[in-house]
Amino acid sequence: MSKFMDWVDARFPATKMWEDHLSKYYAPKNFNFFYFFGSLALLVLVNQIVTGVWLTMSYTPSAEEAFASVEYIMRDVEYGAILRLLHSTGASAFFIVVYLHMFRGLLYGSYQKPRELVWLFGMLIYLALMAEAFMGYLLPWGQMSYWGAQVIISLFGAIPVIGDDLTQWIRGDYLISGITLNRFFALHVVALPIVILGLVVLHILALHEVGSNNPDGVDIKKNKDENGIPLDGIPFHPYYTVKDIVGVVVFLFIFCSIVFFFPEMGGYFLEKPNFEPANPFKTPEHIAPVWYFTPFYAILRAVPDKLLGVIAMGAAIAVLFVLPWLDRSPVKSMRYKGWLSKIWLLVFCVSFVILGVLGVLAPTPGRTLLSQVCTFLYFAYFILMPFYTRLEKTKPVPERVTG
Ligand code: HEM
Repeated sequence: MSKFMDWVDARFPATKMWEDHLSKYYAPKNFNFFYFFGSLALLVLVNQIVTGVWLTMSYTPSAEEAFASVEYIMRDVEYGAILRLLHSTGASAFFIVVYLHMFRGLLYGSYQKPRELVWLFGMLIYLALMAEAFMGYLLPWGQMSYWGAQVIISLFGAIPVIGDDLTQWIRGDYLISGITLNRFFALHVVALPIVILGLVVLHILALHEVGSNNPDGVDIKKNKDENGIPLDGIPFHPYYTVKDIVGVVVFLFIFCSIVFFFPEMGGYFLEKPNFEPANPFKTPEHIAPVWYFTPFYAILRAVPDKLLGVIAMGAAIAVLFVLPWLDRSPVKSMRYKGWLSKIWLLVFCVSFVILGVLGVLAPTPGRTLLSQVCTFLYFAYFILMPFYTRLEKTKPVPERVTG
């Protein structure tokens, strides 16, 4: 074995890569619950790719046959139903995991210097993931696939001058048709997965260049032993590879329970109108995007003007990109930030969740007002951040990680 590895290492840096990224990558010893979600995101990514490849073997990307081919997968293809439900539940699981992963970043200031690029690559992954989910959702060619895409694509029509041409260019037709379905299929199955995989590699390379943050926000590279190994660091392998298995087992238990027993999740993971084939002549009573898009959909609807609504929705995502430059706090972790930061993070999370709930529901005057208040608070969290992070009194950060 060792002779074989010598042969490989003389031609390819296999051992070096293993050491740099696993057995000699020193991670802080105080990782907690929130640090499970990076590896879980990788697991869900692999699940989506593997089940996606097998679904593609039996799916037909044409307006005439797409809906029926999904029914065929569910009823006649061996293990087809499980493959499809692993993929559809995996999409929701991806966003749950990624939202918790991003929340960890907000909680411990993982986006702050020197991890700005880790955050930016993460945000690009998030954008690509949203595009991937949106395009995937058209493929079953159900009522919600069709009308959801109709609503979102028509938003581009609000852009002055080029709006109409742009929507036509995206659809490839005067209305959403088999041509749109074909291009969304190509992007969903080939182009975007490549982009996402590439971005994940860059994300992890950037992280390993500077090292992981931790719940204390303490730089473990400041305290090293005589061999240059951080005193508060432990090799990622075997310590965290083994610890992550615990997270994987718990996750798979919950995930499989949903796949086997509640795959529709009361209409949130698989929406009810999508069990009817797409019908361009019949608009469903209530069109709502899947739950992971609803906070942004609620922001869109909170603004009475269509163009300004689209701008607000875009800004709600764009502002996350500049987060590393909005936080002026001398400390990273919420443990040592002042109470203003803590309250604003809470306000932000509560607003985001309320917006998510409102985005699912049909609008009423009361709900619209609430969504306007929450949209205001959502943006206030970011816009006021340079001020409250500088003004507040922070607690002293310990020299070494705690616990
Ligand atoms: C496919 C999606 C993603 C995958 C597979 C992924 C994977 C990972 C992995 C394996 C780690 C190291 C382990 C950990 O710290 O949990 C990590 C760290 C990190 N990720 Fe992601 N990530 C994804 C999406 C995102 C997104 C959307 C963001 C934010 C916009 C993000 C921000 C971060 C940050 C800031 C860190 C460093 C955390 C720290 O050191 O405290 N990631 N990611």
